[in-house]
Amino acid sequence: MENWRPGVVIVGVDGSDQSLRAAQVAAAIARSVGGRLHVVTVVRPPEGWWGVVGSPPPADALSASMADAQRSALDRTLDRLPTDGIELTSAEEIGDPASALTSLADDMGADLLVVGRRGAGMVERLILGSVADRVAHDAPCPVLIVP
Ligand SMILES: Nc1ncnc2c1ncn2[C@@H]1O[C@H](COP(=O)(O)OP(=O)(O)OP(=O)(O)O)[C@@H](O)[C@H]1O
Ligand SMILES: [Mg+2]
Repeated sequence: MENWRPGVVIVGVDGSDQSLRAAQVAAAIARSVGGRLHVVTVVRPPEGWWGVVGSPPPADALSASMADAQRSALDRTLDRLPTDGIELTSAEEIGDPASALTSLADDMGADLLVVGRRGAGMVERLILGSVADRVAHDAPCPVLIVP
């Protein structure tokens, strides 16, 4: 961590305004260091989907409408991001959002993982969303939580 710089930044987006703000902060950070920004959305299959086999299903097994909805949430966010001067990539992953973000950060050797404090969930009473909470506990890199 001595010479740490956020050269590779990952931001998780779920279509919410909160995650758009997280993406805007992440983009500003990536731009300020000439770094790379990876914008990722994770499609969570319905409850119990992979409980039996213990691993996520292949992408083509997932309902196309579900993947499409999430893809358009990702595209909406990308449309609203100023991307000049950033090396920008994006992807749609399948699985449990917190686990997918954490292992992606590991696989990509991310220097920073950015998420919103809350997301598209409906449970207003939560102070911190469950995805934000779990990545804050489990991520292999520093985590930035954007209010
Ligand atoms: N499916 C997802 N893919 C990528 N990033 C996500 C996803 N869901 C949440 N995030 C990230 O985590 C942040 C916090 O969302 P989170 O899901 O923790 O809160 P919530 O939706 O309000 O609550 P909960 O999902 O626990 O009901 C979002 O702003 C976004 O940055
Ligand atoms: Mg959520």
